[in-house]
Amino acid sequence: MKLSVLAQMLDLKPVELKALASVRDLERMASRKLPRIVSDFVAGGADGELTLQSNLSALDQIKWSPRYLRDVSERSISTDVLGKSVEVPVMLSPAGLASLVHRDGELAAAKAAESAGTVFVVSTASSYSLEEISAVTNGRLWFQVYLWKSREVVKSLVERAEKSGYEALVLTIDVPVVGKRVRDVRNGMAIPPRIRPGSVMDVLRRPRWLAHLLKGPELTFGSLTGTVDPEGHQSIASYVDQELSNSAATWDELTWLRGIWKGPLLVKGIVATEDAREAVRRGADGIIVSNHGGRQLDGCPAAIEVLPGVVEAVGDRVEVFMDGGVRCGSDVIKARALGARAVLVGRPWFWGLAVGGQEGVEKMLHIFSDEIDRSLALLGSPDFKRVDQSAFWRIEDPV
Ligand SMILES: Cc1cc2nc3c(=O)[nH]c(=O)nc-3n(C[C@H](O)[C@H](O)[C@H](O)COP(=O)(O)O)c2cc1C
Repeated sequence: MKLSVLAQMLDLKPVELKALASVRDLERMASRKLPRIVSDFVAGGADGELTLQSNLSALDQIKWSPRYLRDVSERSISTDVLGKSVEVPVMLSPAGLASLVHRDGELAAAKAAESAGTVFVVSTASSYSLEEISAVTNGRLWFQVYLWKSREVVKSLVERAEKSGYEALVLTIDVPVVGKRVRDVRNGMAIPPRIRPGSVMDVLRRPRWLAHLLKGPELTFGSLTGTVDPEGHQSIASYVDQELSNSAATWDELTWLRGIWKGPLLVKGIVATEDAREAVRRGADGIIVSNHGGRQLDGCPAAIEVLPGVVEAVGDRVEVFMDGGVRCGSDVIKARALGARAVLVGRPWFWGLAVGGQEGVEKMLHIFSDEIDRSLALLGSPDFKRVDQSAFWRIEDPV
């Protein structure tokens, strides 16, 4: 009997996905499927990974005070983002080079976001081009840009995004230089990955991943091929590394960008409340509170800790979102209670993608939807949009 027939009879692939009950399960499964050099690239943070850990632990420290015997038979987990409804308040953060974990990369993520009724924020550093991605979906796409050294590069990307129907632009401001990702330094991670003698066995033990990489399109920055001129650099990768972050950039770049992009403009990477105010003064329509998932400056507070101050400062004028450490439905509701309109997730969609391509990202979003719905019922707050801090337990609360 052929192996594939046997696998079908045993329902092997669906069982694998079906048996995964949480984002943590997806993370574990992804780290089994990916070679260490890649799973570390995704999971890792900067320096001592303090911010990476804080993002998780600060969410864990918030406790609920559930209220019972309220009618929670009718529940809603949807919310409005930039004036349009999303079916699940979890959007996909921009994350580059998704084909590193699955050959369908961002194409799979875009389709999964569409089928779940949410937004996919496409990274400048995506492995497929922004046009290839918009061609496979009618779903909502936003486009993320960095402030390159060359304004011409940014301008041409913005024009292409507009032409391809991207709804909003997201400017990431927290990369004046790239953070020191210690695991990548230790593993010798490069684009494309170079397999060191010490990692050969680890890679060979993942033949499926290897086959994906070899059979898939060349691993490159899809939107930049033909756009940037890597002259004088060894490769587009080294060009991106050196040109993508502009350490000379100031807030005037945001004013310039505001002038060339007429649609909604969001600023991602806000930690300081004063930066949120400045972004809004310069015409931003939305703020994404984020420390880049702990991949940039280590020692920043957790995103969830920063959120209430930013909401207080600008939440009456613009929409505020948050990413960093969101791993379950309860985390999403905590962010909502502290004023986020919706959250974004980075690593979770990479883990879903690694485990099952489009189906895996759908699975991840389904896990979040199910957990948000169940938690709202258990909390006694049936409408996601209306959850506020009165749902939190405080040690000084009367017993
Ligand atoms: C593998 C990977 C690649 C990323 N690439 C980008 C990027 O190209 N642009 C960007 O603005 N943020 C990027 N980020 C940061 C995410 O957008 C997001 O802020 C972060 O992952 C959120 O934290 P979480 O992973 O805990 O959800 C990346 C994150 C990861 C894990």
